[in-house]
Amino acid sequence: MIHDPNRVYVFDTTLRDGEQVPGCQLTTPEKIDIARELEALGVDIIEAGFPVSSPGDFMSVVEISKAVKDPIVCALTRANKMDIDVAVESLKYAKRPRIHTGIGASDTHIKLKFNSTRDEILERAVSAVSYAKKSVEDIEFYAEDAGRADIEYLAKMIEAVIAAGATVVNIPDTNGYCLPDQYGSKIKYLKENVKNIDKAIISVHCHNDLGLATANSIAGLQNGARQIEGTINGIGERAGNTSIEEVVMILKTHQSLNLYTQVNSRNFYEMSRMISTQMRMPVQPNKAIVGSNAFAHSSGIHQDGFLKNRENYEIIRPEDVGFPSASIVLTARSGRHALKFHLERLGHKLEKTELDEIYKRFLTLADSKLDINDDDLTALVAYRLVKN
Ligand code: KIV
Ligand code: ZN
Repeated sequence: MIHDPNRVYVFDTTLRDGEQVPGCQLTTPEKIDIARELEALGVDIIEAGFPVSSPGDFMSVVEISKAVKDPIVCALTRANKMDIDVAVESLKYAKRPRIHTGIGASDTHIKLKFNSTRDEILERAVSAVSYAKKSVEDIEFYAEDAGRADIEYLAKMIEAVIAAGATVVNIPDTNGYCLPDQYGSKIKYLKENVKNIDKAIISVHCHNDLGLATANSIAGLQNGARQIEGTINGIGERAGNTSIEEVVMILKTHQSLNLYTQVNSRNFYEMSRMISTQMRMPVQPNKAIVGSNAFAHSSGIHQDGFLKNRENYEIIRPEDVGFPSASIVLTARSGRHALKFHLERLGHKLEKTELDEIYKRFLTLADSKLDINDDDLTALVAYRLVKN
């Protein structure tokens, strides 16, 4: 298959890595609803679950495979035959099935998790890919904890699994350990040193333990990866995964990167609310792109600049991510310009002296109240009318 070199594939793992979070579990019907919305959002791959983990997860993969038609449906496995057999079975209705199999690649995982050796793990990785390839054409291999793996060993493993038939090679920073330049260099090294790398797509899968998941994913893309794995709202194990909405908007905002996805960013806000509600996981107000304050301007200096020209303080238009609208929030840090804007919105055109007078009383009120609403403004104006 020929790939456009500038196209980035978006792999959504909200229903697998995201759903692993305690308290975020979903029923099969809920997962189907979310999968349909992800399809409408335009993600390329939906990781629907880890079928061997429970009968419920198995059924979810079966039903999602029936419910969506455009995206690839992917099922996670460990590197063993039983997991792969169950995953193959769960994907039997998928129009475009993918098996996602893999094993630990760092010495920490090799020794402390598998009590094994590099050679033995390499052999298990290759066997898993070869076995899965007999049933499904599209095989993604994950080298777990690649962020902490020895780079030469990692390169050897990646070359061997591509030779065994892997179509996508996932280089997870499972523990969110890497700095962006370290992670970017890893991807560059693989691109330059794995002989058959042009036969597979490199995927980035970054966790957010140090708050670097998005930065690391971008560094990976800048160095040759062309698939990004993440979740909506960045939910996922521990501190979470890369936020898909952040990566997509970074690529849109920084056209100089010359990379694009086929995701419809206008669906982000709605998608984010859906995930937050269904998974009972509130979105922090200051979350980039979809947080309730992402387009709220509250200090006097910013409000004044924004009201003069929104470009002063807006690098993304709220409508581009489906956000209802930008807002000018009135607090004790607001200036006259913001107060005037809201009073005029409510139909009150005031002379400068009147505005100065109301502004003083507004500040006294705002110091004692967290935010000022329309009723408060109406009361401030009414007081002026009564007084005069
Ligand atoms: O973080 C990780 O390494 C994973 C793999 C299973 C892909 O989620
Ligand atoms: Zn993960």
